[in-house]
Amino acid sequence: MLSIRLARKRDADTIAVMSRELIEAGLGWSWTPSRVARSILNRETNVVVADIDSRIAGFALMHYFEEHAHLLLFAVSRENRRQSVGRTLWTWLERTALVAGISTVHLEVRAGNTPAREFYRQIGFTEAETVRGYYRGVEAAIRMRRRVSNVAHSSR
Ligand SMILES: CC(C)(COP(=O)(O)OP(=O)(O)OC[C@H]1O[C@@H](n2cnc3c(N)ncnc32)[C@H](O)[C@@H]1OP(=O)(O)O)[C@@H](O)C(=O)NCCC(=O)NCCS
Repeated sequence: MLSIRLARKRDADTIAVMSRELIEAGLGWSWTPSRVARSILNRETNVVVADIDSRIAGFALMHYFEEHAHLLLFAVSRENRRQSVGRTLWTWLERTALVAGISTVHLEVRAGNTPAREFYRQIGFTEAETVRGYYRGVEAAIRMRRRVSNVAHSSR
C-alpha cells in the first residue's frame, strides 16, 4: 500500500543513495547523506517519502521561500514507476504549499531528461527557459514553473 509521510533522519542514507543513482547520475554526488539529513531537520524544507509496504519507493525535497518554493529533488524507484507514485507525491506537496501560502513552485530538470520533463508537464508545470551549463558547466537545465492555486486541479 502506498503512503506519504515526512522523512525521518534515519531515511537520509536511502534518500541520498537514490538521489545519486536516479537523479545525479554522471554529475557526481552533491546530495550526500549529511546534506539530506540537514534538509530533513530544516524547518524551511520538506523532505517527503512515498512508502510502499514500508519500503521507500520515492521521495521529494522542496525548499520554501516567502512566496515561492523550489522543488530540488524528486524521484521514484525504477520498479515503482508509472504507478502514480510521483503524482501522489506531487499532490501532497501542492496541498502543503497551498497551506504555506506559496504561489509558485520552481524547479530545474536536466534538458536531456525527456521522461521527467513530460511528467512535470503532466502535473501542470510549464517550461519557462533553458539555462545553459547549469549542471557543472556541462549540461543545460530546463527551468519549469507551476502556479499553486487550486487543489481541484492538483492531479493535472
Ligand atoms: C519522473 C518520475 C519522478 C515520474 O515518476 P512516476 O511515479 O513514474 O510518475 P507517475 O506514475 O505519477 O506518472 C504521472 C504521469 O506522468 C507522465 N509520465 C511519467 N513517466 C513518464 C515517462 N517515462 N514518459 C512519458 N510520460 C511519463 C505520464 O503522463 C504519467 O501518467 P500515466 O502513467 O497515466 O500515463 C520518475 O520517472 C523518476 O523518478 N525519474 C528519475 C528521476 C528524475 O528524473 N527525477 C526528476 C528530476 S529531479
